[in-house]
Amino acid sequence: MLAMEYRGPKRIRVTQKPMPEILHPEDAIVRVTRSCICGSDLHLYNGNVPDTRVGQTFGHEFTGVVEEIGSEVTKLKVGDNVLVPFNIACGKCIFCKQGLFGNCHEAAPQASAAGGFFGYSHITGGYNGGQAEYVRVPYANVSPTVIPPGMDIEDAVLLTDVVPTGYQAAEMGGIQTGDTVVVFGAGPVGIMAARCAWLFGAGRVIIIDKEEYRLEFARNYAKCEAYNFLEMDDPVVFIKKQTDWIGADVCIDAVGAEAAGNALQTITGRKTLLQAGSATAVHWAINSVRKGGVVSIVGVYGPTDNLVPIGNVLNKGITIRANQTAVKRHLPRLIEHVQNGILNPKGLITHRLALEDVADGYRMFSAKLDNCIKTVLIPSTAGM
Ligand SMILES: NC(=O)c1ccc[n+]([C@@H]2O[C@H](COP(=O)([O-])OP(=O)(O)OC[C@H]3O[C@@H](n4cnc5c(N)ncnc54)[C@H](O)[C@@H]3O)[C@@H](O)[C@H]2O)c1
Ligand SMILES: [Zn+2]
Ligand SMILES: [Zn+2]
Repeated sequence: MLAMEYRGPKRIRVTQKPMPEILHPEDAIVRVTRSCICGSDLHLYNGNVPDTRVGQTFGHEFTGVVEEIGSEVTKLKVGDNVLVPFNIACGKCIFCKQGLFGNCHEAAPQASAAGGFFGYSHITGGYNGGQAEYVRVPYANVSPTVIPPGMDIEDAVLLTDVVPTGYQAAEMGGIQTGDTVVVFGAGPVGIMAARCAWLFGAGRVIIIDKEEYRLEFARNYAKCEAYNFLEMDDPVVFIKKQTDWIGADVCIDAVGAEAAGNALQTITGRKTLLQAGSATAVHWAINSVRKGGVVSIVGVYGPTDNLVPIGNVLNKGITIRANQTAVKRHLPRLIEHVQNGILNPKGLITHRLALEDVADGYRMFSAKLDNCIKTVLIPSTAGM
């Protein structure tokens, strides 16, 4: 089968790989119908995630058709059209039982923090991902969800990560009616977080980025204010000025390790990897939230140390909430929101490419070319 393969930092190719096989009675084999490239893939692409092995197939956002099931799979049948959450979760461990499907203790037993994810290095289990024609889906009774009849497959594929992550970012912010919410990062996740902040009752939503086309997109899509940090002397002072010098009630970091905007952070976090990613956005979030406010972090950082202003967290009494998204927990509500037209996930998709062109897809998304917001890959075997 055809699959994307990692060959080292910034080196992606498509290659023929053996067909995945059922390795456990709870496995399913899924023929991919759509898969996406995510901002999280850029951390892998840039070589910033430890133990990303040459030969791995990335891709944690995909839909597909069930081709084969193991003897203990009862919740799916061959021919089902499914959306597959990016978390690989056993459903039975102490963390899954609390709904922490992003922190499963069984799916990546060697990892002490995150759980298992598709196509996301060996620190999350070493599973191959969905930027391929076929994928092995472990614990198939737990997370894969049959796509409701009538739902557009492009909406479905964004329910595997971007929509639940934007939603959880807003949820973790504990937004109260009328709150001012600042979202750092106008990528698909940040734009969705801004959109979802309104659902929780925000009174004002501001998004910050440096890509003018993304800010423009966010203004239209999420109906929020959008500002370019390259035009500010200091983003923290800018937000203070916008909020009567009080600070925002809630700040959301939807940037993570690839953050720009601070030379020291960029050198130590992205160029020399002396810390686990550039902590610029989380820095700005902590410093521009009000005393007693909430910082919600969905931007991904590596497992080791980061330079964050922890003294300010203490002295301002800030609550920090963060996690990998527990996709399955949000699906019932978010499927309804899509069906009722409250959320329009596919509106984020700007590019549709053949799987063969995956390397171009990464280059374009990484360099923010051609007004790219979200790219969907279509294998020639998709059949739809
Ligand atoms: N927690 C989760 O479960 C989860 C799930 C999906 C994605 N993510 C993470 O969310 C983040 C965003 O994902 P995405 O797909 O939207 O990525 P993306 O790369 O498309 O978007 C990131 C945006 O941040 C902007 N940016 C860079 N530095 C900034 C700064 N200092 N302040 C404000 N904006 C800045 C970039 O210009 C870019 O537009 C990534 O870190 C990704 O790994 C987390
Ligand atoms: Zn993703
Ligand atoms: Zn588990």
